[in-house]
Amino acid sequence: MTADRRRYRVIVWGTGAVGSELIATVLDHPDEFEIVGARVYSEHKHGTDIGTLVGRESIGVRASIHVDAILATDADCVLYAPRITDLDDVCAILAAGKNVATTAFLFHPKRIAPDDRERLLEACRVGGTTVHGSGLNPGNISGVLPLALSGMSRTIERITLQERADWSVYESTSITFGAMGFGQPAERINVAENEFLAFNSGLFTEQVWFLSDELNAGIDEVTATVEAVPAQEDHRIFDHLLRAGTTAGQRWIWTGRRRGEPLIEIEVLWTVGGEYPGHWPTPEHGWTLTIEGDPSMRTHFFSLASFTRAVDIREHVRSASVATAMQVLNAVPAICAAPPGFATMATLPLIRSRVGFGNDTPEWGSVQ
Ligand SMILES: NC(=O)c1ccc[n+]([C@@H]2O[C@H](COP(=O)([O-])OP(=O)(O)OC[C@H]3O[C@@H](n4cnc5c(N)ncnc54)[C@H](OP(=O)(O)O)[C@@H]3O)[C@@H](O)[C@H]2O)c1
Repeated sequence: MTADRRRYRVIVWGTGAVGSELIATVLDHPDEFEIVGARVYSEHKHGTDIGTLVGRESIGVRASIHVDAILATDADCVLYAPRITDLDDVCAILAAGKNVATTAFLFHPKRIAPDDRERLLEACRVGGTTVHGSGLNPGNISGVLPLALSGMSRTIERITLQERADWSVYESTSITFGAMGFGQPAERINVAENEFLAFNSGLFTEQVWFLSDELNAGIDEVTATVEAVPAQEDHRIFDHLLRAGTTAGQRWIWTGRRRGEPLIEIEVLWTVGGEYPGHWPTPEHGWTLTIEGDPSMRTHFFSLASFTRAVDIREHVRSASVATAMQVLNAVPAICAAPPGFATMATLPLIRSRVGFGNDTPEWGSVQ
């Protein structure tokens, strides 16, 4: 395999935790990428130089809040990482002839609502473009890694992915306490009352279907359950006071069953405040993927800024955003080379780093 040595013109859509990592990396690799635009949402970011947005020198290209201006900019690929997905925007980008690599949605296009699927495909047809969704989880850990391990399977009885995370280290309390519902009454933690959790639950439901469809498990349903656990005492988390009695733990389980038998399960064990419910399972922090079968396999994944250097906790926390961002940035050449329509974690070649080692050999790939 030889990589396409084009230089890709990219737009970063959403310049938060993930978007900032995308911008910084694009700026660091001028032979590979050129940033030609950035879509921001906050008025105060509008007109700001994209370089200074991420603490770098000015590059002479300004971020914009105006969608039409961004759509009129010529680019190969939009790196789409807003907090909330807007399908109208995504369809407009695709129809305008720009490919889309996103961390925000579309982890298994086959199972999204038929109307949305058709709209996206039509936009791809109009623009001759491709859209791909991936990241960390959903993404590499929940999609690519299980498929890769399954290559060693004779039989598979059950796949389980557990994510254990204490969100207290995340400074963005608008996400933990606003969107995710920590600090709210336990009875409010459900898909009917919380739009963010409903969207999030849909993504993990999609991911269970992805594994079933790609591994021929033939499940006939995916269910979602949630248990919200109240805090025993008050906790101060950055600018926010978590009150005793409000939600400090969320355990979600998405289960795919075939004729009632659970075959594929994604479970998240989320806490804030450091209290860990005694009746919950206790995997290591991070992600634990288990394939029960012949052979039975287990692998544990977590990311840090470094395993060797002394690093500030904020850097460690950022490492998950770096991993998420790189999974789609490294996919840009493959997305741009793919036929119009959906490109998935199963249809794209294995996404890998070309310049991670700091070597920039023009021709690279497997030695035949
Ligand atoms: N697949 C994975 O493994 C994975 C992992 C992490 C994140 N994600 C997803 O990737 C995306 C970006 O994550 P993140 O951590 O970078 O998020 P973030 O920092 O919370 O937000 C990203 C940007 O969203 C923008 N925003 C503000 N209001 C918005 C609105 N009404 N609609 C849409 N966007 C709005 C903000 O722009 P301004 O700064 O201009 O206000 C912000 O910079 C999210 O969809 C997240 O769920 C996926």
